[in-house]
Amino acid sequence: MPHIPSQEKRSTVGRLSPARLATSLFTTSFATRPTVAASAPGRVNLLGEHTDYNGGPVLPVAIERRTGIAARVANGWSFVSATEDGVHQLDIDAPMRRTWTDYLVGVVRELRALRAAPPGAEVAVATNLPIGAGLSSSAALTVAAAKALSLLAGKRLSPAALAEIAFRAEYHQVGVRCGRMDQTIAAHGQRGSALLFETAAGTLQTVPLPGRLWILETGVSHRLTGGALNDRRRECEEALAFCREWRPGLAYLSQLTPDDLPEVERRLAPPLVPRVRHVVTETARTRRAAEVLAAGDLVTLGRLLVQGHESLRVDYQSTVPEADLLVTSAREHGAYGARLTGAGWGGAVVLLAPPEREARTVAEVGSDFQKQYGRMPVTWSTRASRGVRRETLAD
Ligand code: GLA
Repeated sequence: MPHIPSQEKRSTVGRLSPARLATSLFTTSFATRPTVAASAPGRVNLLGEHTDYNGGPVLPVAIERRTGIAARVANGWSFVSATEDGVHQLDIDAPMRRTWTDYLVGVVRELRALRAAPPGAEVAVATNLPIGAGLSSSAALTVAAAKALSLLAGKRLSPAALAEIAFRAEYHQVGVRCGRMDQTIAAHGQRGSALLFETAAGTLQTVPLPGRLWILETGVSHRLTGGALNDRRRECEEALAFCREWRPGLAYLSQLTPDDLPEVERRLAPPLVPRVRHVVTETARTRRAAEVLAAGDLVTLGRLLVQGHESLRVDYQSTVPEADLLVTSAREHGAYGARLTGAGWGGAVVLLAPPEREARTVAEVGSDFQKQYGRMPVTWSTRASRGVRRETLAD
């Protein structure tokens, strides 16, 4: 008999909000009170994987789990995190250390370039997001930090400006060749809605998402300081260069249509063909997903999720066996659909099921996983939540 996750268990995570936790960590670490607090959410991407750096659409959702920052102006820069050891006193101009503080250093450098950084600050961070689970803990950190630190400097930046600073921090300072999806949803997320973000045009459109999404963590951790994501991105750039030989005006791979694929197959060398096929089919699927979600057709949406996962497994080769098992099992146990969400090579599966049987489905999938891997996956649910915000400081 599978163990059905209880409502009570689900709600024990994060009783104290990350912003509150950050505030109390600040007080114990720096022996004074913060003057500003902010938070930003993680995200699940419903569909549109690896399309954002190819000019295509993405359909992410801001989730209820967040990263909180508490800060105060100081001489120099000191960072402390509830999930990492010690207080780090850092020189913002020193070389990056290849650790979590790089994200904060990156944000400070980008804020400085806009004259929107305080002269120095003490900063405390707390999160209830799993790290390395493909739920965009890094964008939650950079967007929340951009908000808190710019407020310390007396600036009120727009969500679009915060997203851009966070993107530049990760891309140019930390060196992860990401697209703009994660920072955009962390800044612009809206309660009860997914966001259709057309990355080439830069347009944002909300699509109502009632009900809950389930997250099933594979327990396979990825850390995106380059590696596989950067390799895939290079392959896409190479493929684009080849495609431009017969389509000189092509700005992005996502401008190709399924009708172009036979020509792509004739002209490009493997393994570039399946990479392009993924981007092209995923682009079409994501726009269709936004339409069917808007029409409330969750059955078709679920089918598109599964097709998206197959495309990642076969063509983009970014899934892991643990995720493949969760998706196959989800289909067998009555889910509308499921897929690996985020960059891949580990991380979490997002699952959508009819409300009346979702808890049972998740439990049955968990027990299939346990039979194969000898451990239960961590599972939890979320509703669509809101983006970055200033938090009030507790008394
Ligand atoms: C990571 C990147 C995003 C996006 C996804 C894959 O999360 O940060 O920009 O490319 O991978 O869809």
